[in-house]
Amino acid sequence: MTQLNPGPRDVSHILGDLNSAGADREFLAHAELHLPRLHELFVRLYGERTDGLERLASVVDLARRSWTERPRALKALDRERDSTPDWFESERMLGGVCYVDRYAGGLSGIRDQIPYFRELGLTYLHLMPLFESPEGNSDGGYAVSSYRAVNPALGTMAELASLAADLRRAGISLVVDFIFNHTSNEHEWAKKAVAGEPGYEDFYLIYPDREMPDAFERTTREIFPDDHPGSFVQLDDGRWIWATFYHFQWDLNYANPAVFEAMAGEMLFLANQGVEILRMDAVAFIWKRLGTTCESLPEAHLLLQAFNAVLRMAAPGLLFKSEAIVHPDEVISYVSPDECQISYNPLQMALTWEALATRDGRLLQQALDRRHALPDGTAWVNYVRSHDDIGWTFADEDAAELGIDGYPHRRFLNDFYVGRADGTFARGVPFQENPRTGDARVTGTTASLAGVEAGDAGGEDRVILAHALALSTGGIPLLYLGDEVAQLNDYAYADRAAEAGDSRWVHRPFRPEQNYAERTDAATPAGRVFSRLSRLLAVRRATPEFAGNDLIAFDARVNSVVAFLRPGESGFSVLVVANVADSAVEIDALTLSGLAPEALDLVTGAPVWLGAGVTLGAHDLRWLRVRTR
Ligand code: GLC
Repeated sequence: MTQLNPGPRDVSHILGDLNSAGADREFLAHAELHLPRLHELFVRLYGERTDGLERLASVVDLARRSWTERPRALKALDRERDSTPDWFESERMLGGVCYVDRYAGGLSGIRDQIPYFRELGLTYLHLMPLFESPEGNSDGGYAVSSYRAVNPALGTMAELASLAADLRRAGISLVVDFIFNHTSNEHEWAKKAVAGEPGYEDFYLIYPDREMPDAFERTTREIFPDDHPGSFVQLDDGRWIWATFYHFQWDLNYANPAVFEAMAGEMLFLANQGVEILRMDAVAFIWKRLGTTCESLPEAHLLLQAFNAVLRMAAPGLLFKSEAIVHPDEVISYVSPDECQISYNPLQMALTWEALATRDGRLLQQALDRRHALPDGTAWVNYVRSHDDIGWTFADEDAAELGIDGYPHRRFLNDFYVGRADGTFARGVPFQENPRTGDARVTGTTASLAGVEAGDAGGEDRVILAHALALSTGGIPLLYLGDEVAQLNDYAYADRAAEAGDSRWVHRPFRPEQNYAERTDAATPAGRVFSRLSRLLAVRRATPEFAGNDLIAFDARVNSVVAFLRPGESGFSVLVVANVADSAVEIDALTLSGLAPEALDLVTGAPVWLGAGVTLGAHDLRWLRVRTR
């Protein structure tokens, strides 16, 4: 295969080289569209380095070769996505997430679950990290030793590619993590960097003594304080290396364009296996600068945009999903068609739990009102809980407007959800409690956090209510598989050596066989939750108003009620009203008088007369088709 000669180049030179390297017309068309942007990003990121633009030329050549190797079926998918760019905003979208080993034993077990995924209506399946990882030190797979090898206990890369194709035939897009902020300490780049092998010395951030680590740590935050203080860990030879998360997860040095090129290669490799969405792990941390928090720096955005531009050339059907669990202003800064087209919505997730604890919906209502809007061509991924802890990432300034003091409120929420507050229904477990800062986060399955484990009368209702919100605010709702049958915490993690030190394993249980067996039995919590949730899933799929992201907050004039309209066609909308209180409330007729009195309850199919007001029972929720007048 012809290789491009490296050398500083401008856009027209690189395009000329692509022509002479025999790039096909389709690739050239992609390159003409996206190379100018990639070039500009490279100038901004690496312009001061002599090797910056040389690297750009080799990245583009990498993209060309990857496109040449891209399977025909995936190129067909690229074209289909190009003609329906809003495919992921449909009301039919539904995500599921699971650990391959815990949920199904391995990749072949996941294939066996396809009929069930179809029964649920999944269109998106996130398989938790499944790459080669150090035994015992894997952070649930988030410490990657090779992006090109599947953990042998789960299967092979060939099986992953064929699973992706099977899922696609079933209408399900495969989602995997792109863990690009760090690698495991066993990755070959890591070994070479520590050994000082030429070309790899600058792949990570390694310092001979504490001078630079101390300087950086004056302004960085501790992410996993249970594991090590600060942002650095010491190597056996006495040097210090940047490790934001666990001591065996070493941060890559993206100020070195060779790192960008190497990672772009891994990204395109995964794209060509049939992955359709890459979950961009830990995006906030990918760029470091002395004297800053080293989170969400402007260059982090430029880097993501540069990866995105490479993708648009060589695998244009793919999407990026941002994982930024930070202040809401920062979360939204990653969301754009040129950067991450979809993003977790950690604010809605956390405030749903906040509302259930306080029995007050106002903070969530305020967030829906002012922090829900997104740029065109992007979507939220709305979830009730993930494989990670819940962090209370609301903005203190928003809370202050409602007379809420952020710091004590977070403490209250932590106490409430770990079962330490009076009157709590939750059975969560603390994660990374930091006695120095008073900071902590919470883990637990939906059912355990919502009160099912504690036998609270409202437990199942809260499971339904939390999911119903995630299903109705727009974007892609994401189920943690097992939660739909009310799975409880798995305390046995504490007896498993590799998990005992990380309480997030409490809410990553093995597939709850018993619950699944009971899912048609209305005498069990699993059966009741499953049948109620299944009904909501079916209604969502059939409700075009739930597509897209348009949402108009509705003031129901009751503090415990969260309410909003999802506008549709011809003056019709869906009015969503949810009561987080433990007692019934009434939305009076006057409050509803801007709507025509005849409405339809989409879940029960029954007509509703708004002229008499709407009474909502404890933890009750309605999806009403209404007409504005
Ligand atoms: C993300 C993952 C989390 C992991 C961390 C480090 O936050 O969701 O599980 O520990 O990144 O990769």
